[in-house]
Amino acid sequence: MSPARRDPAPGERSTPAAPAASGVPAAVAADVRRHGPVPLDRVLERALYDPASGFYETGGRAGARAGDFLTSPEVGGLFGAVVARALDGWWRAMEAPDPFVVVEAGAGPGTLARTVLAAGPECAPALRYVLVERSAAQRRLHAEKLRLEDPALAFAPVDPDTEAPVPGSPVGPICVSLAELPRVAGPAVVLANELLDNLPFGLAERGGDGWREVRVDLAAAPDGRERLAERTVPLDAERAELLDRLVPEARAGARVPLQDAARAWLRDALALAGPRGRVVVVDYAATTAELAARPQQEWVRTYRAHARGGGPLDDLGLQDVTCEVAVDQLALIRHPSSEMTQADWLLAHGIEDLVAAARATWAERAHLGDLAALTARSRITEADALLDPVGLGGFRVLEWA
Ligand SMILES: C[S@@+](CC[C@H](N)C(=O)[O-])C[C@H]1O[C@@H](n2cnc3c(N)ncnc32)[C@H](O)[C@@H]1O
Repeated sequence: MSPARRDPAPGERSTPAAPAASGVPAAVAADVRRHGPVPLDRVLERALYDPASGFYETGGRAGARAGDFLTSPEVGGLFGAVVARALDGWWRAMEAPDPFVVVEAGAGPGTLARTVLAAGPECAPALRYVLVERSAAQRRLHAEKLRLEDPALAFAPVDPDTEAPVPGSPVGPICVSLAELPRVAGPAVVLANELLDNLPFGLAERGGDGWREVRVDLAAAPDGRERLAERTVPLDAERAELLDRLVPEARAGARVPLQDAARAWLRDALALAGPRGRVVVVDYAATTAELAARPQQEWVRTYRAHARGGGPLDDLGLQDVTCEVAVDQLALIRHPSSEMTQADWLLAHGIEDLVAAARATWAERAHLGDLAALTARSRITEADALLDPVGLGGFRVLEWA
């Protein structure tokens, strides 16, 4: 079907004109001409991950200096040090398997992997650390920070009877970098820090007569040029029924995300973790009903060069587009076995011990001003950022164990 070109109809919201240049906006416009109004997830898939012009393939990334936004691993080494302690705890609880496979999904530039290894976890000799990052541009950064091995080494054969590595297996830590989740049976620990908010999502809006899907269409701007605009169409019955269950009291005009990609990811991650493994997701999250009660611009956030960007259809390919994770949509796959704030999770895994050690080092060495002293001082301030209840400390940590 080919949509008619037209002025925005009453009630149709249009966004500022997309750049007429080639790249993502042009590809989206071509898609709309060919297929009619397209789901937002399809547009975001291109905007974020198109191999030629997607945000994450053209330099977009997490990071303090080189990046566009700050994540917990990018605050400094403290977050990775706490994750290393958590890994040791889970490893011991699993009776110290060797190999111990840890898969970090959405690994970005590899900072969490680097800081986990720098903390020297006890499980290191057994550790097979698999970084999974779909952006080729970011995978290239892994080799700059880590000694990478052939992926086959991460899944070295084990004796099926004893589950011990066959003789001659390499000693860890072994790091490998992959473009997608490996299709191997667990057990594995699967970690994802701020991945799910970055998976393409759709949008639904409560209309007077039921749920509607917010799609992306073309409309004529006053200057006669085409622009991308939102257009709502009836939502399919299955997802409308689901939203009626999750948000029975939605007011007309309320919007919610449709997180099919996040659900599919969780299904794959649980299969990879296996019954003895664990999936750990850290992200900003809420229930679908909580999101429905808030304006969309609060839970769909865009970032570029450490500043908030415009609407999700603005500057396609040039800004990050993220969405708060709807926990109850994930729970449709399986209920998490625990959910807490990042602050509580870090406290449960010993951040206070690490900060106390840093304070002691600072007290002893401040007068020297050496690297150990400066690292210790930095850890103390990192803790404030990671535990801040209205910042990173307020993120949710969901575990399926
Ligand atoms: C917000 S960044 C977070 C990076 C890192 N985890 C951190 O906390 O700094 C999300 C990353 O997930 C990657 N990504 C998105 N979808 C992915 C997928 N299906 N598999 C692996 N990586 C993915 C993106 O390319 C991006 O690098």
